[in-house]
Amino acid sequence: MVQDRFGRSINYLRISLTDKCNLRCVYCMPEDMTFRPRHELLQDDELLRLVRIFAGMGFHKFRLTGGEPTVRANLVQLVHGIAHTPGVRTVAMTTNGVLLEQLAGPLAAAGLQRVNISIDSLDPQKFRKVTRWGDVQDVWAGIAAAERVGLQVKLNAVVVRNYNDKEDVVDLARLTLFKPWQVRFIEMMPFGDVADFQQAGVVSEAELHATIAAALGPLTLVNDGELDGEARIYRLPDGLGTLGFISSVTAPFCAACTRARLTADGKLRLCLLREQEFDLMTPLRQGASDAELKTMLTEAIWWKPWGHGLSQNVIPLNRVMSEIGG
Ligand code: 5AD
Ligand code: SF4
Repeated sequence: MVQDRFGRSINYLRISLTDKCNLRCVYCMPEDMTFRPRHELLQDDELLRLVRIFAGMGFHKFRLTGGEPTVRANLVQLVHGIAHTPGVRTVAMTTNGVLLEQLAGPLAAAGLQRVNISIDSLDPQKFRKVTRWGDVQDVWAGIAAAERVGLQVKLNAVVVRNYNDKEDVVDLARLTLFKPWQVRFIEMMPFGDVADFQQAGVVSEAELHATIAAALGPLTLVNDGELDGEARIYRLPDGLGTLGFISSVTAPFCAACTRARLTADGKLRLCLLREQEFDLMTPLRQGASDAELKTMLTEAIWWKPWGHGLSQNVIPLNRVMSEIGG
């Protein structure tokens, strides 16, 4: 088990498999985004080696993100390798769902247990406007496939003012009346060169509660407000499913953070919203031993920042979201 200097046990690794994506969500990246050449990314064997080392240090939950993880070559074999690494208990993925119709079956067979699928609006035009390139039907097909093969599914929506902050939020929340799903609303976070847009368009959890309650009735807190991962959970009157709110901007959950992030280009990032990173790729490619890498990781994790600085207007500018993984 590894701890940081604040006594937090760090045991959850989020791995960005690629910075590439088949969509261009307005809150995530500019439309003309350029991506890294392949040799700058961790190769499969390098990634699996790091996973083995992390698992040996007590990390047991791994989430694959991107960019869009499903566009990475050899994804199914990678998931198989991670899921079968001794010490790994949970393998999850955050995906836009576009390619899940074909991939859900093979991924589940390889050992994937959970998927968080992004769906920012049920309205095809609005969905297109948020994602710039997406077709919401592809996502529905992906959700259906994931459910069919027994993956645990959560739905995620990032809320952006004047894009999906009113009836879209209500439509998404309404799904929980007749489906046993968790639909989660994420406050938009500021990053890199889309930070101005993000800060201007952020919609607070409090505002979302008011919008949803006005249309669908009062929200009841579930589990006395104990966080499920990073989300606070509520239920609508007679709802089968639940509503989750991930409010990194207005209610940071840094005190309970258990996570570290591995970027696609092999940097350990200890806080999503802090620029500080620790280079693993260079020692890896220069022949560091497992023991040396483990020592470096233990040291880097010790220095995990306490939390983000959004309330002091400190915004990470060195990367956009697609390079870190949500
Ligand atoms: N703020 C919050 N969440 C974001 N995501 C992408 N960009 C942002 C942002 N600026 C989310 C996506 C997806 C995951 C990859 O990160 O919706 O769930
Ligand atoms: Fe792609 Fe996800 Fe970013 Fe949208 S939020 S552009 S789906 S990586």
